[in-house]
Amino acid sequence: MASHPGFHSLHEETATSLPVTGSLPAWLTGSLIRNGPGAFSFPTGTSVDHWFDGFAMLYRFTFDPASGAGPADEDRLHYRNRFLRTDAHDAARRGEFEGGFATGETTLRSRLAAFLTDPYDNTNIIAERVDGEYVALTESPRKVRFDPNTLDTLGHVEYDDGLAGHLSCAHLKRDPSSGVLVNVETAFGRRSQYHVHATTPAGKRRHIGSVDTDKPAYMHSFALTPHYVVLTEFPFRLDPRRFLKPGRQAPFIEQFEWEPDRGTRLIVLDRTSGAVVAEPVTDALFGFHHVNAFERNEGSELVFDLETVPDATTIDSLYLEHLRAGELSAIAGRIERFTVDLGSAGRRRRYGIGEPTVSRELLSEDGTALPTVSPSRWCRPHRYVYAMGMDTPVTEWAQRILKLDTRTGALKAFDEGGEYFGEPIFVPAPDAEAEDDGVVLTVALDTTANRSRLLVLDGETFSERARITLPHAAPFDFHGRYFPELRAASPA
Ligand SMILES: [Fe+2]
Repeated sequence: MASHPGFHSLHEETATSLPVTGSLPAWLTGSLIRNGPGAFSFPTGTSVDHWFDGFAMLYRFTFDPASGAGPADEDRLHYRNRFLRTDAHDAARRGEFEGGFATGETTLRSRLAAFLTDPYDNTNIIAERVDGEYVALTESPRKVRFDPNTLDTLGHVEYDDGLAGHLSCAHLKRDPSSGVLVNVETAFGRRSQYHVHATTPAGKRRHIGSVDTDKPAYMHSFALTPHYVVLTEFPFRLDPRRFLKPGRQAPFIEQFEWEPDRGTRLIVLDRTSGAVVAEPVTDALFGFHHVNAFERNEGSELVFDLETVPDATTIDSLYLEHLRAGELSAIAGRIERFTVDLGSAGRRRRYGIGEPTVSRELLSEDGTALPTVSPSRWCRPHRYVYAMGMDTPVTEWAQRILKLDTRTGALKAFDEGGEYFGEPIFVPAPDAEAEDDGVVLTVALDTTANRSRLLVLDGETFSERARITLPHAAPFDFHGRYFPELRAASPA
């Protein structure tokens, strides 16, 4: 079987200072922290079957532009990578790892333990700052704290406020106007519910509302606007009665079943009252990433961009045996815009007429993965979406990154510095007026040199400003966040 680059294990942990080719903007003085599956097998014999089950590795890229102090003063990048020392990682190193998201059979005891007493902690999806602490997240409600300077693992965060579910969206959504972080947790049981929470910058977690469901859907993210939370309940559902039956069963994700006849329910919650104000149903579809959402027409319309795929076979495609064999057919998504007209359910009821409706618009024909927008546009109207670019039909991993102008449909592509690219992250320039005034950060894999490379692109022109070659080839990862406060040689 051919082995596709980018799905290898990286056991080397590094901390080094690297030269920059090109030049960094003087204002780019923070750090990008990325998270992803760093290893898929260990010498103890532990190995995992699915890309989502690789063991969490954090990467910190700290920009250190020259201060202009002298001729020897040059731009530097301080780079560090480190595994999270989670319970799952410890078990893998001991050869005792029992299973994750899509690896290993489960027993009722192990299923209950994973959801109740000992939640899964292989938090390999993203890093966030929550209540002044840096945490790594996955779809379990158990978060892992780490030191943002050393990347040392510090412990777990578990809430004892009675609001926790058994599954959590990996992607929290932040409302920049208040700093509030919203999340959705799913509780399975005789009565299954989605619980929506808001965490204030002071760390207080508040229950916004809960929604009953007969069979919880797999939801990796959701949409947040200034006044509403929109849950996209895809018809990829888990029957809690089956899950709680005794006996050996397939891994967790294989418990979900595709039920296209149900369509996709869009559950609109009012962020203040917690009430479900609308729940229109649209076509059966699936997706991982809500790109951004906002309100229009005085709050009577909610608009969200979602990367969609026709069904949930994408998850099967991400088994390592398929990825390593280059069988990538179902992993490209498309950016679609959904508009929910709240009708008479809207806050401004006097303007609204009739039942809530949903419309769907394809923003680009091009295949995409891991789409993002400028954080300055979260919860506000955005124009540009950045994403990995995939050929459709997919024959290869992303060989470029894209900048999509949602207003005109125009695309810019960048494909230099390596053959394969990861999620692009936009960093706005301080005091930027134009939405694309800033830089785009992405990690490319150069298979000839067997090295990964961090690329810094100009946000407007999408041309290269700087590149930094890392001391190794990093496996493909999931998500990154730029933290302006994490500066070179300074406390967090
Ligand atoms: Fe994600």
